[in-house]
Amino acid sequence: MPVNAPLNRKLRMGLIGGGQGSFIGRVHATAALLDNRAELVAGALSSDPVKAKASAPDYDIPADRAYTSVPEMIDAELKLPADQRVDFVSVATPNHTHFPIAAAFAKAGFNVFCDKPLTFDLAQAEQLAEIVRDSGVVFAVTHNYTGYPLVRQAREMVMNGELGEINAIRAFYIQGWLRTRLEAENQKQAAWRTDPSKSGIAGCFGDIGTHAYNLGRFITGLIPEDISAHLKIFEPGRALDDYGTAIIRFGNGALGTVTASQISHGRENDLWIEVDGTKGSLEWHQEEPNKLLVRMNGKPHQIYTRNGGPYLGALAGVSTRLPSGHPEAFFEAFANIYAAAYDDIVKRANGQSFDREKSLYPSIGDGVDGMNFITQCVASSQQNGAWLKLKHDLCRS
Ligand SMILES: NC(=O)c1ccc[n+]([C@@H]2O[C@H](COP(=O)([O-])OP(=O)(O)OC[C@H]3O[C@@H](n4cnc5c(N)ncnc54)[C@H](O)[C@@H]3O)[C@@H](O)[C@H]2O)c1
Repeated sequence: MPVNAPLNRKLRMGLIGGGQGSFIGRVHATAALLDNRAELVAGALSSDPVKAKASAPDYDIPADRAYTSVPEMIDAELKLPADQRVDFVSVATPNHTHFPIAAAFAKAGFNVFCDKPLTFDLAQAEQLAEIVRDSGVVFAVTHNYTGYPLVRQAREMVMNGELGEINAIRAFYIQGWLRTRLEAENQKQAAWRTDPSKSGIAGCFGDIGTHAYNLGRFITGLIPEDISAHLKIFEPGRALDDYGTAIIRFGNGALGTVTASQISHGRENDLWIEVDGTKGSLEWHQEEPNKLLVRMNGKPHQIYTRNGGPYLGALAGVSTRLPSGHPEAFFEAFANIYAAAYDDIVKRANGQSFDREKSLYPSIGDGVDGMNFITQCVASSQQNGAWLKLKHDLCRS
């Protein structure tokens, strides 16, 4: 079957960020190309113009399409013939730059993948949602953990009612890399994440708490009503939270908790979630992503494995590439977000409609939901854990 039928060609990608010494840009570039549905042809790879140019050969981006800024890139790409211009860009830059970059590309008609948290603050996120709606572009937010086959399986099981009514969600994202003030040593990733002018109003909760929250929302589809949170700064001298817990009351009466830490000794990327329903419970760990544990009282515990057999649903089926037992993980899950959004990009290119609110990939609404979560966690914590409303007009169910 031709690539991206009926478009029958690879999509052209532009990468923003990902310059030498950076982290997630390379992951975007790898994941986006994994299924041979896209090629990386252009980029504005760094905030430093010299580095932006110097980083281009690392990605085989030709010198004439290695731009030194986003405005230069948009200008130049719009002047190219349509059959050369990028179809989409991936924004892998620090949080405070997401809004101006993503908004500029969306306004210019380019489809956008943007990393989380969506923007610097909620007002920007809501403005971006309007821009995306008006421009008609496809917009994906890389809450990449929703791309794991067994996370999608978990969602399908909840949606099919296999767990019964959902009563509780416990989501955790536990790291230890900011136990010391790495930012004071000028470590690149720590420096901007702990700087309120670049990270936003939250530190740990914006960086990883939002992933844990999003995971619970994706798996259960429960609509959040109110939130109470306590965020803490445990490393003296740090300006933003490095630990916190939030309690969420959902519309159906369920209770959820999100705990996020960047100061837990020895913990790497321990994102994990447990969901309790009236008929069964499930548990999934990002560091062991090829297993999903399902428990029902009076029955043996069940371990679902990725690609393990016909007991898996359609969502897990479309999300896996290798036979069972060969581990798939971070890159593949990230690529699954790309694959789902590519389907909509192809539809848009063919003049077909697509449903932004019911997408398999996290979309602009999920990004706004995440910013709403961060905003109300910080506000609640500042009011000694007061219960505050969460908006849910853009939430996926
Ligand atoms: N989804 C995930 O799992 C995940 C993981 C890590 C980071 N992130 C998110 O990705 C983003 C980047 O994080 P990181 O750790 O890769 O950061 P980083 O500091 O390692 O890299 C950021 C890159 O962006 C470039 N940059 C900054 N401003 C720019 C601009 N205006 N134009 C072009 N390039 C610019 C920098 O020069 C650098 O190359 C953040 O929003 C972060 O929250 C997501």
